[in-house]
Amino acid sequence: MHNLAGAEVVAESVCKTFRTKGGQPVQALRDVSFRVNGGEFLSIVGPSGCGKSTLLMMIAGLESLTTGHLAIDGNSVKGPSEVLGVAFQRDNLFHWRTVLGNVMAQIDLRGWKRSKWEDRARNLIHMVGLEGFENSYPSQLSGGMRQRVALCRALLHEPQMLLLDEPFGAVDALTREQLNVDVATICASAGVTTLLVTHDINEAVFMGNRVMVLAPRPGRVAGIVDVPTFTPRTSEFRVTPEFLNVSADVRAMLEGSTPTPTAAWSPDRNGRRQEDHHNSQLGSGNEQS
Ligand SMILES: Nc1ncnc2c1ncn2[C@@H]1O[C@H](COP(=O)(O)OP(=O)(O)OP(=O)(O)O)[C@@H](O)[C@H]1O
Ligand SMILES: [Mg+2]
Repeated sequence: MHNLAGAEVVAESVCKTFRTKGGQPVQALRDVSFRVNGGEFLSIVGPSGCGKSTLLMMIAGLESLTTGHLAIDGNSVKGPSEVLGVAFQRDNLFHWRTVLGNVMAQIDLRGWKRSKWEDRARNLIHMVGLEGFENSYPSQLSGGMRQRVALCRALLHEPQMLLLDEPFGAVDALTREQLNVDVATICASAGVTTLLVTHDINEAVFMGNRVMVLAPRPGRVAGIVDVPTFTPRTSEFRVTPEFLNVSADVRAMLEGSTPTPTAAWSPDRNGRRQEDHHNSQLGSGNEQS
């Protein structure tokens, strides 16, 4: 693998407001500012609907900003960039291509020489545990298998930056832990800048150099937590006091920034949950404005 310097990402006061079909504004992100250094691994956590996917789509050049500024290596993001590898929440595989064909799509789209990349494609497919499925079609795979194909496709062309949006969401627990190790190792050894969105706090801490916590409605940066250095990122890291402390810090920051039903819970005189009365009038705390 080439040792390309990873791309640097700078977000300055990024805001995003969508319009619903009825014309109502939905503010997805407000004043989001952060910097990701070249080669750094930033994990992003936050409650459902806080704008994580929107943020990655904007960095990928697939969604516009309402106000603010986004730059990759000092250049304003104006559209999709060749330096990127992306694996989004929906795997977006080509249903008419096999597993190998989907992974090799990166090379075909760029018009590069197939023979130079096929071994690497097969190695990646092996790494994610899909050896033997090279000639299967997406419709013959489970959701977790499809996600792993999408991950191979994102990694194949040795991108300078990886944008991963819950890439392991449908993968079983043990495979997921192994993929955490493998992907963290690939990213670190290749020096690729990586932004990983995940709902799993332990995964965020295990893989990240830092963890950014987003607060909801509209999405804002609640804080960024540093993860202590542990190289290589092997499973032993998960049981160290440092890991447990950082995970607890991230959890506290998430809980502090997220109104949860349990936080509002207190029994009334009849022992009923008081927020049930509120919810019947106001709706649950998780819906979007
Ligand atoms: N194309 C769109 N049109 C209108 N509103 C949108 C659109 N895309 C996203 N939104 C709204 O923007 C907000 C953020 O959505 P987004 O998908 O970025 O959240 P998320 O943090 O990725 O959530 P999850 O964890 O559930 O994937 C939500 O309120 C959503 O309804
Ligand atoms: Mg999302």
